[in-house]
Amino acid sequence: MIISVFSPKGGVGKTTVALALAESLSKNHRVVALELDFSPGDFVGLLHELDPGKNLLTCKHDILSAVQRPSGKEFDVIIGGYPGEHEHVRREDIKRCIEILKFKYEYIIVDIQPGIVELVIDVLAESDRVLVIAEENFITPIARINAFLDWIQINNLSDLKNFVFVRNKVTNKELVYIDKIKHSLKLVHDIPFYKKLKGYDDKRLQKNIKRLAGVLRNGTVREDKRFWLFRRILGKL
Ligand SMILES: Nc1ncnc2c1ncn2[C@@H]1O[C@H](COP(=O)(O)OP(=O)(O)OP(=O)(O)O)[C@@H](O)[C@H]1O
Ligand SMILES: [Mg+2]
Repeated sequence: MIISVFSPKGGVGKTTVALALAESLSKNHRVVALELDFSPGDFVGLLHELDPGKNLLTCKHDILSAVQRPSGKEFDVIIGGYPGEHEHVRREDIKRCIEILKFKYEYIIVDIQPGIVELVIDVLAESDRVLVIAEENFITPIARINAFLDWIQINNLSDLKNFVFVRNKVTNKELVYIDKIKHSLKLVHDIPFYKKLKGYDDKRLQKNIKRLAGVLRNGTVREDKRFWLFRRILGKL
C-alpha cells in the first residue's frame, strides 16, 4: 500500500506525520519511508546514522542499494537528495523505484516536498491514499491546498478520490477553514497541537497516529462527522 503525505505548504507536519506512520506501522508490517523531498528533506536530521551520500539520485540505477535502516528503528528509509538534483532523476526512475519497493514492503510511506515537481506526479497517481495535511491555524495553507487541488483536477493528473484531509496542529475542534475548500475531500483524522512535541516518535503523537494507521490499514476511510455535516449543509454531497 502506498501512502503519500503531502501539502503545498511547508512546515505543516508532513515529515512528522510520515515518520510517525512509519514508526507505528513498522510494529507489525514491513515499512519503507521514501523521502521525495529535495529541499533537502529532514530524514537525515531526524533519524540516526543515515549516510546522506546514499540517496535517490546516487542510487537511481539500483534503488535497493539506497535503502537504509535508521539505528534503533524497525522501518527502512530512502532519502531524497540535494536541492536541484531532482532534475537528474527521471519520472521513470521513480516509477521503477516504486514498483521494486512494492515487492519488498507492505507499506511505502512517501514524504512529498511542498514545491510540486513533475517527479511526484506518478507517485500521487499511484498512491492508495494521499494524505493532504491541512493546518488550519492560518488561511494561507488552505488557500494553497485549493489551488493545488484545482491544478491536479484541471490537468487530470490523479484521481482525487484517493486524496483525504488530515488536520494537524489542531487547537480548535471546530472546523475553521477546511470547509471553505471547494474540493470535497474526506477529513479522516485530526492531530492535536502538542506542546513541546519531542518529534515523530513522541508518545502522545504515536497514540494518536495509531488510530490513523488503523483507518488506513482497514482501507475504509470514514469521514469525520463534523465535516460531513458541514458539506451537507453546504449542499456539497
Ligand atoms: N501535531 C503537532 N504538534 C506540535 N508540533 C508539531 C506537530 N506536528 C508537527 N509539529 C512540528 O512542526 C514543525 C514542522 O514539522 P515538519 O518538519 O514535519 O513539517 P513539514 O511539513 O515536513 O516541513 P517541510 O515543508 O519543511 O518539509 C516541527 O518542528 C514539528 O515538530
Ligand atoms: Mg518535511
